[in-house]
Amino acid sequence: MDHAQARYLEAKRTVDERALDRLVRDELLDRLPPSPSVVEFAAGTGVTVPRLLEWGVEPSSYVGIEQDADLVDYACETRALDLDERGYPVTGTDEGFSVGADEAVDVRFVAGDATAVADGDADLVVAQAFADLVDHGTLLDALDRAVGDDGLAYLPITFDGGTLFQPDHPADDRIERAYHDSIAERPGRDPRTGRHLLDRFRTATGELLAVGGSDWIVRPRDDGYPADERYFLSCLLDFVADALDGRSVDGTGDWLSSRRQQLADGKLTYVAHQYDLLYAP
Ligand SMILES: C[S@@+](CC[C@H](N)C(=O)[O-])C[C@H]1O[C@@H](n2cnc3c(N)ncnc32)[C@H](O)[C@@H]1O
Repeated sequence: MDHAQARYLEAKRTVDERALDRLVRDELLDRLPPSPSVVEFAAGTGVTVPRLLEWGVEPSSYVGIEQDADLVDYACETRALDLDERGYPVTGTDEGFSVGADEAVDVRFVAGDATAVADGDADLVVAQAFADLVDHGTLLDALDRAVGDDGLAYLPITFDGGTLFQPDHPADDRIERAYHDSIAERPGRDPRTGRHLLDRFRTATGELLAVGGSDWIVRPRDDGYPADERYFLSCLLDFVADALDGRSVDGTGDWLSSRRQQLADGKLTYVAHQYDLLYAP
């Protein structure tokens, strides 16, 4: 089990919860039928399940597709315990668990490639922090297949190519450009996915129902960073360091050591530009 990956995704939760656009969420909740069937692409540690329950949505079924089999095991075990601790009735099953009043919500996590999903009839497909990792055409085709008639696709926390660290450093612009260039060079990756999906949805046969900004903003308080957000920021700095490795960007060494020191001193702020999108394929 790659505990670092699971811890990163769990640390990301409080950042995501602050960032989610409330108007897009409300539009989603207004349009969802009672007891919707839900499929999630790239479910990670399964955080969408408690979120939907907190929003008052009791799906008839939830299937989270995640390519990392270790995360699938983690999500299944951890979310069942987590929901039990939050007071929801939870019953384990062979393939997942049931949760909610009368154990109405059948929750399963499966290992696989979400973009290879078969034809389905979901009322809702969720893909959080995922669209920038895969080819957009492939993703839209998968959404078309998975979402049923009158169904919805909700894509919160969709990265759009803004990465800011504060306080100012003279190498900031070079580092940000090199970081995004490095992402763009990886197959299927697009650091400007948010704006490019806006273009795609404008010309697609479906309808873009709502869009809102969901920038991550992580900042220190008087008593440090909330929850596990210091760890989250340390991961972000590692991602940037890995991306810059071998790229010979002037000032990288000083930039990284300054940022790590600012993090240790509780003085580092980070912003990532993102959108939440609600689409009817
Ligand atoms: C940034 S994480 C987001 C996880 C989760 N949606 C969240 O927001 O906490 C991206 C996830 O996508 C998964 N992933 C990447 N490509 C995938 C694919 N083709 N099918 C399923 N999962 C995929 C990765 O294993 C990782 O867990």
